[in-house]
Amino acid sequence: MSDYYSVKWINGAVSMIDQRILPQTVQYNRYTTYEEVAEAIKVMVVRGAPAIGASAGYGMLLAVNACQAQDVPAALADLKAAGEVLKAARPTAVNLFWAVDRVYRKAEASQAATLDELRAVVKAEADLIWKEDAEMCFRMAENAMAVTPDPVTFVHHCNTGALATVDYGTALGVIRRAHEVGKQVYAYVDETRPRLQGARLTSWELRELGIPHAVIADGASGFVMKYKGVNMVVFGCDRIAANGDVANKIGTYNLAMAAKEHGIPCYSVGPTSTIDLETPTGDQIEIEVRPDDEVTHILGECQITPDGVEVYNPAFDVTPNHLITGIITEEGIAYPPYGESLKEMVRRAEERRKQG
Ligand code: MRU
Repeated sequence: MSDYYSVKWINGAVSMIDQRILPQTVQYNRYTTYEEVAEAIKVMVVRGAPAIGASAGYGMLLAVNACQAQDVPAALADLKAAGEVLKAARPTAVNLFWAVDRVYRKAEASQAATLDELRAVVKAEADLIWKEDAEMCFRMAENAMAVTPDPVTFVHHCNTGALATVDYGTALGVIRRAHEVGKQVYAYVDETRPRLQGARLTSWELRELGIPHAVIADGASGFVMKYKGVNMVVFGCDRIAANGDVANKIGTYNLAMAAKEHGIPCYSVGPTSTIDLETPTGDQIEIEVRPDDEVTHILGECQITPDGVEVYNPAFDVTPNHLITGIITEEGIAYPPYGESLKEMVRRAEERRKQG
């Protein structure tokens, strides 16, 4: 486990490290209602697709714990409504929808006779989502070692570490594991405008882990690939469409194009909970557009554009499947054609869950 955590259930409440103020301030916020959890997701106290999913699971638990309904059917109706509020917090990361639906389905199928029994079912499922996430991250990192060269020089985008997950991380987990198993590792970290998840969060996590790295401006990655011996590009994913198109933090598409130009293997790393077989291609993925002031101001403080300038601030982009060498999951590495290989990863995950 890391010395810090993104989200945890502590004494009947959800505790989250406030990722808006890292790395200058390490502060944990305590949330006692599902509405507060939804707001924390929206304003990005917690962020990163898997961490958002785990938070939503605990949001559902807060909802059922506070529920005043007289019977189980009424409580289920309240839980469903709370789930809709949580789902409305951010549109792109499918883990949010996956976690809410998973908890609700479990509650609905449980045949709980009393509200207390229902609460116990929801608690068990939210805990399971949380626990599985850290385990899945570690397995992804282990799977990635087969394709990680030694020495390895990465370019990494956004933040995909323990902060973006329950623990260990997705793409950052690959960097971490490579370092742990003794590979010679160096990482170039895209700063990731406009919210600077790379500069603020990834750099903080890599420093805590003692992994050598340099933060680069997003626009520097092509130059760095050409002259700095980069031999692996890694990033996470917020939603993987059935055909292998990957929605991830804005700038990922440019990075993948630059990797293609330089012949550098380019991997997306994410748990099977990020695969959305219901969405045929990336074109159907809703891309969140965030407030203008994320672009006009640095972290809400220093204005960098003229007054009143027009802004367009998509928080994610879609990298087409042909730019991605492989998608590393906890069930193995999916390769093209993704239509088949992603289905197989999901099938293996379901099989594993059935076997308990
Ligand atoms: O807007 P964010 O910071 O929530 O975006 C996060 C990313 O894009 C990550 O790369 C993605 O969630 C996968 S990380 C485990």
